[in-house]
Amino acid sequence: MSKRRSGPARQAAEQMAVKQAKPRTMRAVAMDRFGGPEVLTVKTLPIPEVGPDEVLIHVESAGVGVWDPFERDGGFAGMLGVKPRFPYILGSDGAGTVAAVGERVDRFKEGDRVYAISVGNPKGGFYAEYTAVKADDTSLIPDNLTTEQAGAMPADAITALRGLDDTLGLEPGESLMIFGASGGIGHLAVQFAKRMGARVFAVASGDDGVALVGQLGADAVVDGHKDDVAAAAREFAPEGLDAALLTAGGEAADKAMEAMREGGRVAYPNGVEPEPQARSGVTIQSYDGTSDPQVIEKLNSLIESGPFEVHIARIFPLEQAADAHSALDTHYLGKLALRPR
Ligand SMILES: NC(=O)c1ccc[n+]([C@@H]2O[C@H](COP(=O)([O-])OP(=O)(O)OC[C@H]3O[C@@H](n4cnc5c(N)ncnc54)[C@H](OP(=O)(O)O)[C@@H]3O)[C@@H](O)[C@H]2O)c1
Repeated sequence: MSKRRSGPARQAAEQMAVKQAKPRTMRAVAMDRFGGPEVLTVKTLPIPEVGPDEVLIHVESAGVGVWDPFERDGGFAGMLGVKPRFPYILGSDGAGTVAAVGERVDRFKEGDRVYAISVGNPKGGFYAEYTAVKADDTSLIPDNLTTEQAGAMPADAITALRGLDDTLGLEPGESLMIFGASGGIGHLAVQFAKRMGARVFAVASGDDGVALVGQLGADAVVDGHKDDVAAAAREFAPEGLDAALLTAGGEAADKAMEAMREGGRVAYPNGVEPEPQARSGVTIQSYDGTSDPQVIEKLNSLIESGPFEVHIARIFPLEQAADAHSALDTHYLGKLALRPR
């Protein structure tokens, strides 16, 4: 005989079921077309379905990338030659808790604190309460980072590490210039490079940038907007600098490269403009911050090897995504972020 619940017990069970029922919709900053900041509006949309090799993340923190306005304008879609799907949700990286896992995923479980990167995700990005991303591009959050920090870090941290490790092949004891050292990639690169054993000459922006980068452990710091960078670099490395990572371009960056030694190596991520021009005798290479499980593992071990700072200048609520995009054009240190919930 089946056991029947009495009236109050049934009511309690029903209430519990309602409480536990997973939401089907979410708030997201979604665009109906590409365009200026005015296309960034908050909408209620279905929560994306989690695929077999994906995790669904309940997003608490999303990075606002300096490349986001380019994607908002339709630049990514044009560059990659892909047909965009609208409503289109921006956001290449973020962090939160796992809300569901695909059937082939065994590395994560519901409730895990994770960060992830996913550039141009056709299911929608991180400017939303939920996003479904590949498990391979997802990681548990290192214990020494807050969820907010972990969400603002992935794309810039992976790009910093790809530059230092894969592109420059940085060796312990080498002298390295980081140009744009108080920016998103730069302030993370300073910390990675020190952990990799390099001597770091940092070119930061403004008195506040110089102060931040000094605290992060750079061996010497100058202000690239007012100091004589090439002279300070020659004092730092009289034989010339072995390597340089540039995260900003222009006359000041090109002039700073005069301090490279013959045979020195320079790397910059694609997107830096104007494109840096090195003098002859110096190798210069552009690259992308592509993600894979190996780079994520290396990133985590560098982050976990000591206190690590992900500097977030400002956090905006979802409704203020357009303000966050405007703020990208102002002077700030580190990264900007959105808080979807
Ligand atoms: N290809 C890829 O996979 C990839 C991935 C990530 C990023 N990127 C690209 O990499 C670039 C950097 O990204 P990011 O997130 O690090 O950007 P960011 O936060 O804007 O960093 C650039 C920094 O350079 C500083 N800067 C500019 N001129 C300077 C000067 N003369 N002296 C000292 N500092 C100076 C800027 O500060 P002020 O504005 O205050 O001067 C800013 O802090 C962007 O072009 C981005 O699109 C490419």
